[in-house]
Amino acid sequence: MLTEQRKKDHLKICIEENVETQKTGFEEVFLIHKSLPELDLKEIDTSTEFLGKKLKLPLIIAAITGGTEESKKINKDLAEIAEKKGIGFSLGSQRAMIENPRLKDTYYVRDIAPNTLLFGNIGITQIKKFTMNKIKKALDFVEADALCVHLNPAQEIFQKEGDLDFKNLIPSLKELCKNLEYPVIGKEVGFGISKEVASKLKEIGVKAIDVGGFGGTNWIIIDGLRSGKDYNNFKSWGIPTPISILESRVGLPLIATGGIRSGVDIAKSIALGADICGIALPFLRILKKKGKQGVEKYIDNLQKELKFAMFLTGSKNIEELKKAKYVLTGEVKDWVEQRKLT
Ligand SMILES: Cc1cc2nc3c(=O)[nH]c(=O)nc-3n(C[C@H](O)[C@H](O)[C@H](O)COP(=O)(O)O)c2cc1C
Repeated sequence: MLTEQRKKDHLKICIEENVETQKTGFEEVFLIHKSLPELDLKEIDTSTEFLGKKLKLPLIIAAITGGTEESKKINKDLAEIAEKKGIGFSLGSQRAMIENPRLKDTYYVRDIAPNTLLFGNIGITQIKKFTMNKIKKALDFVEADALCVHLNPAQEIFQKEGDLDFKNLIPSLKELCKNLEYPVIGKEVGFGISKEVASKLKEIGVKAIDVGGFGGTNWIIIDGLRSGKDYNNFKSWGIPTPISILESRVGLPLIATGGIRSGVDIAKSIALGADICGIALPFLRILKKKGKQGVEKYIDNLQKELKFAMFLTGSKNIEELKKAKYVLTGEVKDWVEQRKLT
């Protein structure tokens, strides 16, 4: 019940309040313009593959929800669009359905998204509470392709009922990676992954990383608003998404999430080292305001902008975009120099 109520509160706050960070760091990343692209825009191909599944564009709807009637509708609507548009779809934390199996159906989308790249989700603090078998059953039920384990210590601090015991989670995660019959993805929720954590995740055995960087939805603000805890001095805490991409290049498939809002952000993320991008809050808000058609339009526009950016960097496909040249300025450049990221 507590988990269900929290999910309801999160949706309400995310839709109604100003919960986004305004600066993403992408303003300080410049792709080098190519005046002689030697391409026909029509031949640009945005398709790619991630964890063995084909995507029409390098995009996944990032984890949003599950566990309530409202969530069920959101999951079904967004998963249906993901299937139609050939992008990936992530379920929100499956904790609610593990605690209360009555809520299982609010996560089930395979009936309408049979081919979609589908991620399950659980919080890192839950993996010491639930047996591996329970987690596996939750993934079996939704027919997921992989499990995202979200790493959210900053969020837990400001959550009303936050779990602040992050001790001995590394061995539990290692065990999960070794024995679960699904690939595990280590995912932040908006405060970014550092190179030290990325290397540790690789050593632990995760199969991919979602940087979940700072610059978009801010969970310190959301849970601070909900709990009444004073978050003002932590409003700018975290590693901005473009920097976190550079920090997390450890040779694993990489997802860039956190403040990605345009096709240009997607192009920049891929040039910096991401394989695909994730977007959460805009999908939720557009679905609420403009319905499924609005979401489809938003995706079409992301694809159009991505194609333009590919054209203007002379990149015929995603592999070529990965090699596009860029310049970093301001704080992003400072980070790169001080953290020796190149
Ligand atoms: C309403 C809402 C609920 C979310 N719930 C989860 C969750 O259950 N598990 C998770 O890993 N991330 C969750 N996230 C985080 C997103 O997956 C994403 O990492 C984060 O919002 C940054 O992306 P954005 O700036 O595009 O929103 C949630 C985001 C939103 C907006």
